[in-house]
Amino acid sequence: MSDYIWLNGEIIPFSEARIGVEDRGFQFADGVYEVVRLYQGKPFTLSEHLDRLTRSAEAIRLSVPLAKNALAAEIGKLVARSGHRDGMVYLQLTRGCSPRNHVIPPDAKPTLLFYARPLPPPPVPGEGEGVKLLAVADERWKRCWIKSIALLPNILAKSEAVAGGFDEAVFIDHGMATECSASNLFAVISGKLVTHPIGSKVLPGITRAVLLECAEELKIQVDERPLPEEEATRASELFITSTTREVSWVARWNERYIGQGRCGPITAALHRALQSRIAAS
Ligand code: PDD
Repeated sequence: MSDYIWLNGEIIPFSEARIGVEDRGFQFADGVYEVVRLYQGKPFTLSEHLDRLTRSAEAIRLSVPLAKNALAAEIGKLVARSGHRDGMVYLQLTRGCSPRNHVIPPDAKPTLLFYARPLPPPPVPGEGEGVKLLAVADERWKRCWIKSIALLPNILAKSEAVAGGFDEAVFIDHGMATECSASNLFAVISGKLVTHPIGSKVLPGITRAVLLECAEELKIQVDERPLPEEEATRASELFITSTTREVSWVARWNERYIGQGRCGPITAALHRALQSRIAAS
């Protein structure tokens, strides 16, 4: 299957795409991004992702060069051309090319691109191996709600986790578990769902938001508050959420085993509720 990319208004073969050396995304990580899940060729929660893209862009004084409806239509065209049915769309918006200078140039033309990639079939709720989390210091900036392409702290943390035989890194900020390197974190404590509030320390995950709606439907109480690491490791269930993972139950936190050594009932119920929404979308 040929790979295509949408680059600044044109769909071209992936191998022909060229980005300037002085693109500020390349030189300064001056840009934002989105990852949208495709189920049977249809982008899931696309509207929510495009709204978050707009908020991220505005936060760095950039505007999305296409109106929301036009951008959604262009993503639809690229997905159809790519032929991928189950996968993801990676979208990136940078400030574009300009002679290197820290000051934001007034006239740079943004670089917008997106392409689709396949993903393995969605996981079966409650099945599969649990995720092993490694706790690492949260050394990120204080604007984690912006989906910035500047991901060095995240890639260093995740690489440290994987090198140690773990799957994902969980960030610890002053003793509190905030989120993971590429996913949000939830705990089940005394039957309640606990997750760190979004804002300076946590990305407003789209999957997180859908899960909170599912929790309301299932009448599971939610407590959005900072979660001490010590309390998290004693939770009866822990799970992480993201566009690409959906819901993954956590089996271990450093050397400590979580819950009963299998996916807990609340995690599985929430994951099933998420999949019902996906099926109905
Ligand atoms: N990451 N927190 C962080 C730091 C993330 O990078 C992500 C997503 C999430 C979950 O957000 P959402 O439910 O909207 O995917 C939370 C994407 C998938 C990535 O970087 O590949």
